[in-house]
Amino acid sequence: MSGKNDSEFFYPSEEVKAQANVKDYESLYKRSIEDREGFWAERAEDLEWFQKWDKVLDDSNKPFYKWFVGGKTNIVHNAIDRHLKTWRRNKVALIWEGEPGDVRTYSYHALNREVSRFANVLKSMGVKRGEIVTIYMPQVPELPIAMIACAKIGAAHSVVYGGFSHEALSDRINDAQSRVLVTADGGWRRGKITDLKKIANNAMKNSPTIEVCITVKRTEHEVYMENDRDFWYHDLMGLPIASPKCETEVMDAEDMLFILYTSGTTGKPKGVLHTHGGYSVYTSTTHKYVFDIKDEDRWWCAADPGWITGHSYIVYAPLINGSTVMMYEGAPNHPYPNRWWQMIEKYGITILYTSPTAVRGLMRFGDSWSQKHDLSSLRLLGSVGEPINPEAWKWYHKVIGREKCPIMDTWWQTETGGFMITPLPITPLKPGSATKPFFGNEVAVVDDAGNEVKAGEVGKLVLKAPWPGMARTIYGDDERYKEVYWKEFEKQGWYKAGDSARIDEDGYVWVIGRIDDVIKVSGYRLGTAEVESAFVSHSDVAESAAIALPHELKGNCIHVFAILRAGMSGSKELEAELKNHVSEVLGPIAKPEKVIFVDSLPKTRSGKIMRRVLKARALGQDEGDLSTLES
Ligand code: WT7
Repeated sequence: MSGKNDSEFFYPSEEVKAQANVKDYESLYKRSIEDREGFWAERAEDLEWFQKWDKVLDDSNKPFYKWFVGGKTNIVHNAIDRHLKTWRRNKVALIWEGEPGDVRTYSYHALNREVSRFANVLKSMGVKRGEIVTIYMPQVPELPIAMIACAKIGAAHSVVYGGFSHEALSDRINDAQSRVLVTADGGWRRGKITDLKKIANNAMKNSPTIEVCITVKRTEHEVYMENDRDFWYHDLMGLPIASPKCETEVMDAEDMLFILYTSGTTGKPKGVLHTHGGYSVYTSTTHKYVFDIKDEDRWWCAADPGWITGHSYIVYAPLINGSTVMMYEGAPNHPYPNRWWQMIEKYGITILYTSPTAVRGLMRFGDSWSQKHDLSSLRLLGSVGEPINPEAWKWYHKVIGREKCPIMDTWWQTETGGFMITPLPITPLKPGSATKPFFGNEVAVVDDAGNEVKAGEVGKLVLKAPWPGMARTIYGDDERYKEVYWKEFEKQGWYKAGDSARIDEDGYVWVIGRIDDVIKVSGYRLGTAEVESAFVSHSDVAESAAIALPHELKGNCIHVFAILRAGMSGSKELEAELKNHVSEVLGPIAKPEKVIFVDSLPKTRSGKIMRRVLKARALGQDEGDLSTLES
């Protein structure tokens, strides 16, 4: 089987090739596979270490790989401290624009002062090495500042995306046993305030471990503050304790840097754990090579720092590479659909990295909004989160990139820490393909028995070798880590990505989508089990099944089949109520597109819901093998 886009190439210009950080993919790739440890050791040498490692890779306890064992470091030393000794001290580290149009900029020097002051505040609240601080914030500078402050003093952060509900927040606080929560009174989105503090207050009712809640004042609307528990960020930052001098803790390379929750096949979200050493090396190398980072660049990753994309490529990698980072608070089309293009022109952004869903959303408004602006500063574009459909790719390439900017379609996951399958600026591109493995990585598409399938055939995507940015475990649940990612191909020692894919005749990887019960909506990851358990928490619902169906803007959307409790009957009103209920329980991103009331669900004889049958029915397709269907 081959795809209709397999033979359509877009070649990089001579200009792009001439300035690329990596000039020859094949030979460096070969080297990185033949001597993986040597390759990564060299990359690690680009960073500063308090003490050099004894061993690059320790694979004595698979799948719990360790990297740069014995090395002493702190990601903050490389992201900030070392730049202060150079001219970059006065380079702009962060340009931030709020949705209402307010602007703040920080040089590396200024960012260090803010981080150090907040680190001292956290210390004064008793935050210790190894403790997990939960952060629930809008996209304001205090978000990266709080993250980096935690890392600086050896605490770990758990950032919960600001679009999540109080239940989702509370579950995550409880799993991490956080004592301290950092939040804000709200943020701006489409001209409205998202009331984060109210949600945080509700969450704290069910999260008894929280002793201290620090709130950034952003929107200045009235919020409830509880005596002895709640403090304003600006009050604390005004105290003498918030001194701008703070030592960066010396950490082991393998010490926990953060956990980040992501959805899996079961209801309970997984706290994916990343560490200081390997993650620093992996994210900074991928960023530098794939986006060809130069000191003159103005880098804009238009994700939310609350997701892995933001952790790795708004905060850590670009700062390690000494870049100037752009960050924007609000919606791409507020007040008009030219908001992003206006900012690219205003700040002279050179690289834009965003998601297919954002591209499709902006494409919908036509070409004229971007044509009002001078986008000639752009030299590279990027995409992440889900497969980008060739139409959106071509629009992005032509209208935004003026056919001059190669598109780096990067495939990776929360668990991988950084880009795994990705082009480089010199790579001939095929719209819709993430192209080839990054250095050190070996990728294969296999059948259930672990045999590589033929070129063009669809199978399961596996990663055959460890890499420094890999997750170390699921927080507090080593068994689940093994079970989810390593069990299926235990014999071979491969990591199962959970995606289906094919590799074409030219060795280009085409990721198709999730094979497990994970749904990607607008690039966000949700578990069918999470949506279903939100459904049955409504008193009218007895049972439900959630599936993903294609959606023009969102990539996928959620349809839920629901069996109501005896005596209840489905109606338009109940459908609306259930949609809102899910949105309240999980957050607005999980809101289903459609609820279908049914009397029964197709199940296997062992009682597992056959979602694939529901999906085939909904799409009017062949239902496939029904031999396991309960009759
Ligand atoms: C899943 C991981 C990594 C940052 C954002 C998402 C899908 C991600 C691509 C891409 C095709 C992609 C996969 C993957 N995905 N990037 N370029 N092409 N699919 O992180 O929430 O952990 O989701 O996103 O299905 O498994 P995440």
